Amino acid sequence: MSREPIAHPNDLLTVGEVAARTGVAPSALRFYEAEGLITAERNRGNQRLYRRHMLRRIAIILAARRLGISLADVAEIFTTLPADEAPSHREWVRVSRLWKRELEDRRRYIMNLERQLTACIGCGCLSMRLCDLLNPDDRLRTRGPGPVRLHEPGGRDDPA
Ligand code: FES
Repeated sequence: MSREPIAHPNDLLTVGEVAARTGVAPSALRFYEAEGLITAERNRGNQRLYRRHMLRRIAIILAARRLGISLADVAEIFTTLPADEAPSHREWVRVSRLWKRELEDRRRYIMNLERQLTACIGCGCLSMRLCDLLNPDDRLRTRGPGPVRLHEPGGRDDPA
């Protein structure tokens, strides 16, 4: 019975092997390298060879892309991870918690936009001053959704 050789994190993988394992096109791998997200060594023929632990980095990049996290943010996170070994379980837990908070922030932001847009439906004022969506810092928002001034005494909708 033959046994598979035990993989070592520093084993070298060709571009084709990394592409096959990750589903990432060689051109994207080159781009990630140019952006400093992954590193490659060169063989005598100047072909790229990746340390096996780069697969974990690429997995994090793919997870980030799925979550809508920018490559700039991934690069920032990578400055907090070891460059010469795979991120540990604990490090991935830290990063995934951070990104979960970012998703929650984004969800709150989108819900707020949705609320503002709902106020626009049927209004049509598109006023830079009165529309909550166009003027998000408007203090009038605390007085209710939509063009509150239009509904106030003296406003356009005031029957008086
Ligand atoms: S269009 Fe946004 S409140 Fe009127």
